[in-house]
Amino acid sequence: MTIEQQTTTDHYAEHVAYCQDSWESALAAEGFEAAVIHAGSQIISFLDDYHYPFRPNPHFVHWLPLTHHHDSVLFVQAGQKPKLVYYQPDDYWYLPPADPEAWWADHFEVITVQDPLAWQNIHMSVRTAYIGDAPCLAGVEGEVRNPERLVNRIHLARSAKTEYEIACIAASARTAAAAHLAAEAAFRQGCSEYEIHMRYLQACGLVDHQLPYGNIVALNDHGAVLHYQDHDLAAPRSSRSFLIDAGATHQGYCSDITRTYACADGEFTDMIAAMDEMQLGLCDDMRAGRDYRDLHIQAHHRIASILENFGIINTSAESAVQQGLSSVFFPHGLGHFLGIQTHDVAGLFADADGTPIPRPEGHPFLRLTRVLEAGNVLTVEPGLYFIPSLLEKWRRDSDTGAINWDKVESLAPFGGIRIEDDVLVTDGAPVNLSRRAFAEI
Ligand code: GLY
Ligand code: MN
Ligand code: MN
Repeated sequence: MTIEQQTTTDHYAEHVAYCQDSWESALAAEGFEAAVIHAGSQIISFLDDYHYPFRPNPHFVHWLPLTHHHDSVLFVQAGQKPKLVYYQPDDYWYLPPADPEAWWADHFEVITVQDPLAWQNIHMSVRTAYIGDAPCLAGVEGEVRNPERLVNRIHLARSAKTEYEIACIAASARTAAAAHLAAEAAFRQGCSEYEIHMRYLQACGLVDHQLPYGNIVALNDHGAVLHYQDHDLAAPRSSRSFLIDAGATHQGYCSDITRTYACADGEFTDMIAAMDEMQLGLCDDMRAGRDYRDLHIQAHHRIASILENFGIINTSAESAVQQGLSSVFFPHGLGHFLGIQTHDVAGLFADADGTPIPRPEGHPFLRLTRVLEAGNVLTVEPGLYFIPSLLEKWRRDSDTGAINWDKVESLAPFGGIRIEDDVLVTDGAPVNLSRRAFAEI
């Protein structure tokens, strides 16, 4: 076990107890006595015999740090030690999962099997919910497969992170931060997007399919494509700016970090500094009791002030927000919950019924509308972009004079700015896990 792993295993026993408690009360509330949580099966590409990279059932990963263990199955029942049917085939085509490790396995009754359907022989005489999307669950009666209210309850429970989960996300942020620095160095050497991406992977010791999401490695105006997915092989003639949105994973938990750089002093560099200062202020506002929708609207006001101060708009910040002009430059949400999933669950509803907590009108992409609570981990990722299609739409349909088009033209080749940190909400001051990770390097 590495030192890094040790720090994230210290609180594992408490974490399993939290999972057991959450499941026991959710099952009881929904009239179930047990749950079968299937890790998922491999998916084969159409008319071929290759698998897509395996993405485990996040409910399985919540209990267990097992991320490539397809066809393992967890049985949960009130008052009983959870039972893990551990699929370890005798395979010479692919490397089977290693033997269970005591630090996690001791919390389960582990039964090792070589048949992926062996779990079906475990007799369940109680009313059981089946959680997962493995094809072998297809025959399970609809109402006990992923029961919506039960899943909602578990999703709500997952939005408060345990010490173990916080340690995993923090470890993931440390891995990502080190790789971000390697990527920045590669940018400053004039590398291509592809080369920067490879340096990132090498620095974090992961391969593509182990990343929480495809790295966004965007030079120049590619920074204006919010989820830019290419990795150009050739370096541009001149690299003016660099936006990198890239994370890492640790025991199934994600980090999600964005930085923007410019290669020379100038207005865009000053804008990055203004956005950075503003983003830090927002991070400091991530406190228990705050409504994330208000924080998102506040971000619009602050970004609109930057647009006004830099002479990009010819109207007041206030009126830019009112008219929807700030959304031309900041067309996504301020952030989202973070955990086993990059866009983690339970950001938009209030209770077991899944009663939606509506987004503010005119903000369709906000992924988090909850009032913040201690234990939430979320991202804070304000952006300011020069997106040709949105700017053109504004020019066509709205108050053309509200935008300083000369200024836009001079800044558009830089693409855009996004600065994204992973923040833990506490009973006091928030903890910025990504800034802390950069500072520790
Ligand atoms: N990297 C995806 C996001 O920031 O939401
Ligand atoms: Mn994000
Ligand atoms: Mn991101």
